[in-house]
Amino acid sequence: MQRSIRVGLIGLGTVGSGVVHILRRHAKRLQHEVGRPIELKGAAVRDLSKPREPEVPSHLLTDDALALARRSDIDIIVEVMGGVDEAKAYALEALQQGKRLVTANKAIIALKGQELFDAAKQNGVGIYFEASVAGGIPIIKALRESLAANRIESVYGILNGTCNYILTQMSNNGQPYETALKKAQELGYAEADPTFDVDGHDTAHKIAILSSLAYGYRVDAQHVQFEGIRGIQPQDLECAREMGYTVKLLGISRRLDDGVSVQAHPTMIPETSVLANVQDAYNAVAVVGDAVGPALFLGLGAGKLPTASAVVADLLDAARDLAANAPAEIPLCWRADVPPSADSETEAQKALKSACSRRYIRLEAEDRPGVLAEIAAALGRHGVSIAAVSQKESTPMSEGTVPLILLTHLAAERGLRAALDEINDLPCVRQPGVSIRVETEL
Ligand code: NAP
Ligand code: HSE
Repeated sequence: MQRSIRVGLIGLGTVGSGVVHILRRHAKRLQHEVGRPIELKGAAVRDLSKPREPEVPSHLLTDDALALARRSDIDIIVEVMGGVDEAKAYALEALQQGKRLVTANKAIIALKGQELFDAAKQNGVGIYFEASVAGGIPIIKALRESLAANRIESVYGILNGTCNYILTQMSNNGQPYETALKKAQELGYAEADPTFDVDGHDTAHKIAILSSLAYGYRVDAQHVQFEGIRGIQPQDLECAREMGYTVKLLGISRRLDDGVSVQAHPTMIPETSVLANVQDAYNAVAVVGDAVGPALFLGLGAGKLPTASAVVADLLDAARDLAANAPAEIPLCWRADVPPSADSETEAQKALKSACSRRYIRLEAEDRPGVLAEIAAALGRHGVSIAAVSQKESTPMSEGTVPLILLTHLAAERGLRAALDEINDLPCVRQPGVSIRVETEL
């Protein structure tokens, strides 16, 4: 029998333990698929004394991830520890040692992708990163292979399971934000630092990766404009429902005449749209190609086994490539010989210049004569026209302020931002307003 494919795992948390579970449960079938057994040779963790489920023999455990990445008796490193600099250092070491790298870490791909792919190319090995976007949904493979015949016009969707879970719980069950976040953490959806989820970094990284693959040149994650869901309150979800909308955190990227627009932000979408009905930790990615038209991919975007499903599939690809001694496939966007893309910062500025949106705005304003006129004037000065206004009567509890809900017509993004800044500075406005983009076409 040929020798086994030898695997080193960095991280045995939610995803890592799922990988061990699947490798054990399907050991025979996976061996059949690859033609060689897949053998876990070692696993790096932070805390050697922590109980592991499934159990991993102690002689396989180490707290020295760098040493694991260097071991000469390991063929493939699976990085599922998360973070950026440390994880990148281990990943880079593995590539420099000629090992194939499987990773679920969107941050290292989105922020350090060029460095990693350069090292992969130099060492003739591949990087496999299906689990980095939308967990169990095979969207990376779809963009790289199944949709390769298309000129992609847009990619958008729900890319963060934690935020979708929180918004679903707040909207359907009236749960407070904090309770829903705690539950998402318990279910293993959230990042080690959940601010990456709720403040929108995670969605920004994911839409940057998808956009890079879709349009064929690298979209720099650092230039993606993003907002999170932290400021959204149950009353915003209630108002959205009253107006026939649902709020989702979306990554949205579109090809423009002169570049691309890539953004991540909470968005009000019609409650009849498909995305509005994607609930809990489910993710959905819509891709519009010039030949295929619209295609929608739906599935669990976070959690132990859905994510491990993508990691193990990548592991099989890496194992097959290794067995066949196949050359590394570097995606076009990270190929050094492809002329550098347009400067992403300029792209982002260009996109902002041309971008337009409609906005839902909720303000806590003083209940006195002339307040509505002051707010309307600020919007008018920046060319923003109001489509609808609603104000609830003040109550003895509301201490002289009233919630004011405004819906704008389509307006230039720059004007909207300037108007919002001006409104937030008005003495009659008590707290910074909540503003959510409204998309009627998604
Ligand atoms: P996690 O539950 O926090 O697990 C992280 C693991 O890495 C733990 O086993 C931890 O060790 C280990 N670790 C941390 N620092 C280490 C170090 N310096 N050296 C060695 N081991 C170290 O994280 P996770 O949820 O599995 O996520 C892992 C990666 O998958 C992240 O990049 C995440 O973005 C990505 N991902 C996660 C999901 C999901 O649903 N959770 C979905 C898609 C992608 P201890 O156990 O000893 O603390
Ligand atoms: N924390 C991420 C999420 C995990 O909630 O979607 C998947 O990347």
